[in-house]
Amino acid sequence: MTAPVPHRSGARPPTIDADKMPRHVAVVMDGNGRWAAARGLPRVEGHRAGETALVEVVAGAVQLKLPWLSVYAFSTENWRRSPAEVSFLMGYTRQVLRARRDLFHSWGVRVIWSGEQRRLWPSVVRELREAEVLTRNNTGTFLNLCVNYGGRAEIADAVRTLAREAAIGQVDAARITEDDVAARLRGGERTFDGGGLPGRPNVPDVDLFLRSSGERRISNFLLWQSAYAELVFVEEMWPDVDRTVLWRAVEEYSGRSRRFGGPAS
Ligand code: IPE
Ligand code: IPE
Ligand code: MG
Repeated sequence: MTAPVPHRSGARPPTIDADKMPRHVAVVMDGNGRWAAARGLPRVEGHRAGETALVEVVAGAVQLKLPWLSVYAFSTENWRRSPAEVSFLMGYTRQVLRARRDLFHSWGVRVIWSGEQRRLWPSVVRELREAEVLTRNNTGTFLNLCVNYGGRAEIADAVRTLAREAAIGQVDAARITEDDVAARLRGGERTFDGGGLPGRPNVPDVDLFLRSSGERRISNFLLWQSAYAELVFVEEMWPDVDRTVLWRAVEEYSGRSRRFGGPAS
């Protein structure tokens, strides 16, 4: 295993008390189009520029020894974009996976994919599965790549699973609990026809939900898991984000008082 090269400024990750460290950070990588428009470039150039930010943030998570990092790369609603942009995003996702998986592997990262298999380019699914298989025995940060992911679609998939189990008497419909639902969240519906990993670890609750580009919304990301997440919104457009932005957000998170419905202390 090799450590990521330090940040270009020499900045080191912050020291955070163990009980104030998030276990799971979820990142909405937003603002590529606006970044490009501000430079008179086509939108896709913003997506291209976003690759460095992704690698930076993964490096920052590895340096922090963060257990889980989820990144939102393509939502179930992003099919509403122009065919040209959707095609670019599919092809580029495949290219980035191919170009970066060995680097992530060398950092001990475990890649998992969350998302619907339906509509996703089979070549993208194949690349995601390959990254999962390559990194399956690593012990470092889980990198949950959310591609064709939707929080509602994921919940609907779990509901379908439960309904099937109830229909054959495997579960008692009247006694379905929150834990039963959570245990069936598997990222989205897929057939696994390409082989690969038989199971996937359950994605834990999100502690810190971070979104770039100044937008203040969830946009259907990890809805179930973010029920009590701390929200941090930063103004940087995604291509301008680097690991220091993640570290600042984690510092802000460590100062928050989380109550989960309990009384303020
Ligand atoms: C995020 O940037 C990338 C994806 C959604 C794939 P956007 O493409 O949403 O950029 P803006 O929000 O239009 O600036
Ligand atoms: C959320 O960003 C999805 C990703 C970053 C992949 P969007 O740009 O699609 O979200 P909205 O449309 O502004 O809510
Ligand atoms: Mg956007």
